[in-house]
Amino acid sequence: MDDFDYARYDHVRPIRWTGEALELLDQRKLPFETDYLTCTTSDEVAAAIHALAVRGAPAIGIAAAWGVVLAERAIEANDAIDAATKLEPALQRLNAARPTAVNLAWALARMRAALARAGHDWRAALEREAQAIDTEDLAANRRMGSLGASLIEPGSGVLTHCNTGSLATAGFGTALGVIRAGVAQGRIDQVFAGETRPWLQGARLTVWELQQDGIDATLIADSAASHLMKSGKVQWVVVGADRICANGDTANKIGTYQLAIAARHHGVGFMVVAPSSTVDMATPSGEMIEIEERDPAELHAVGGSRTVAEGIGAWNPVFDVTPHALIDAIVTERGVIRRPDEATMRAAFG
Ligand code: MRU
Repeated sequence: MDDFDYARYDHVRPIRWTGEALELLDQRKLPFETDYLTCTTSDEVAAAIHALAVRGAPAIGIAAAWGVVLAERAIEANDAIDAATKLEPALQRLNAARPTAVNLAWALARMRAALARAGHDWRAALEREAQAIDTEDLAANRRMGSLGASLIEPGSGVLTHCNTGSLATAGFGTALGVIRAGVAQGRIDQVFAGETRPWLQGARLTVWELQQDGIDATLIADSAASHLMKSGKVQWVVVGADRICANGDTANKIGTYQLAIAARHHGVGFMVVAPSSTVDMATPSGEMIEIEERDPAELHAVGGSRTVAEGIGAWNPVFDVTPHALIDAIVTERGVIRRPDEATMRAAFG
């Protein structure tokens, strides 16, 4: 997409490295406040990931990589081997911040490998690797935007879920990158976004982010999705992923699975867009993915106001698994996998 007007369609940046600190656009406060949270230690980065100040699978990997750089600034070490031992507790704490998105462990594995390869300039090598993880993510998103949009017929409507945009990545977004590209190319006429209860990533983040680009989006209650599909107004559901298994099963924000079921029932296409850093060939199928469960209190209130009587219990899994049989296409920066299964995944990712 060399002729793509990125300046027109990609404004938001959630992660800024100043050379001394990591600044994270605090997504708990959006859309009404655009405040950057300054982290100067790796534990502050881990806490920000856990608290969803920074969120979205690629973004938490990138933030963790910069967290390792902050950890490196805090230690004295004789050489790279000594540094690896001293940094490991900080890496473990970053890794424990959230369990489901594999991008976190992937980014930390890259940082460990960079350190293992490094010589006397191991501090600079870590900083270069964090920068590479960040830069490569933006390039992957732009590539996926072009690949994914080409699957969408001109004049289509799309439905997305959660936030998969610039806010969830180094920039441009995964599923939202496909939507940006599809709108720019005149393939997408209408964008619908589900609210994404309970944290409201769709309502608070996605429609706001699209508004920054001048892209109209229509917000729907999550429970309106099947009714929307029945109306014929959407031809594709386009979502991101937190982990894609060796058989093509995909973990994503809670509610994605029911969208896939409804899409198949209504003959609507279902597209998963994620960089190869989200692919986890070591996990054979979705049953093996750890699904994060968060504080039930997230279900007891809306916008800080309690909506539920005292004493009511709640169950709050924040991801679910879509079986590969319900997925029409997985788009990564390496290409499109149609009807993913073990064989097509192995052919693409070895
Ligand atoms: O809990 P979140 O907001 O981190 O969940 C994010 C999602 O589920 C996204 O769809 C996924 O990480 C892909 S982001 C490009």
